[in-house]
Amino acid sequence: MARERRIPWASSLENEAVTNDSNRGRRVLVTLAAALILALALSACGGGAPEVSNGDPVLEEGRQLYIRNCAGCHGLDGGGATGPQLSGGTASATYPNIKDQIDIVVNGREAMPAFGGKLSGQEVEAVVRYTRETL
Ligand code: HEC
Repeated sequence: MARERRIPWASSLENEAVTNDSNRGRRVLVTLAAALILALALSACGGGAPEVSNGDPVLEEGRQLYIRNCAGCHGLDGGGATGPQLSGGTASATYPNIKDQIDIVVNGREAMPAFGGKLSGQEVEAVVRYTRETL
C-alpha cells in the first residue's frame, strides 16, 4: 500500500517533469513559428523594390522581372549601383519615348547586358514600364 502511494507521487513528479519539458518544447516551437512568420512577411515585401500601387498585373510582373534581372546592377530601389539610376522618373526623363528605353534593354549598351535573348517582348515592356511608372 505504501508503495502504491509512492508510485502516484513519483509519477506525478514525473508528469510535472514531462509537462515542463513539453512546455519548453512548445516555447521552442512558438519561437520557430514566429521566426518563420517573420521570414515570410519579409519575403512577401519583396526585399525593397517599390510595390506597385495600382495593382496593374503587368507592372506586378515587371516588378518581379526587375528584382530578378535588373536590381543587382541598378539597385533594388532603382537608385543605381553598377548601372545608372532608373528611379524617380529618371528613366522616362532620359527616354521620353519608351521605345528607346526598350531598345537598350533588348540590345544592351556598353556594360548593360542585352535581354533580347532572355526576356520576351512582353516581359521587356513590363519591366521597362515598371521602371518608368513605379520605380
Ligand atoms: C550587369 C549589370 C546590369 C544589369 C543586370 C542590368 N543593367 Fe541596365 N545598365 C547597366 C549599365 C552599366 C548601364 C550603363 C550603360 C552605358 O554606359 O551605356 C545600364 C543602362 C541601362 C539603361 C539606360 C540608362 C540611362 O540612363 O541611359 C536602362 C534603361 C537600363 N540599363 C535598364 C535595365 C533593365 C530594365 C534591366 C533588367 C532587365 C537592366 N538594366 C539590367 C548595367 C546593368
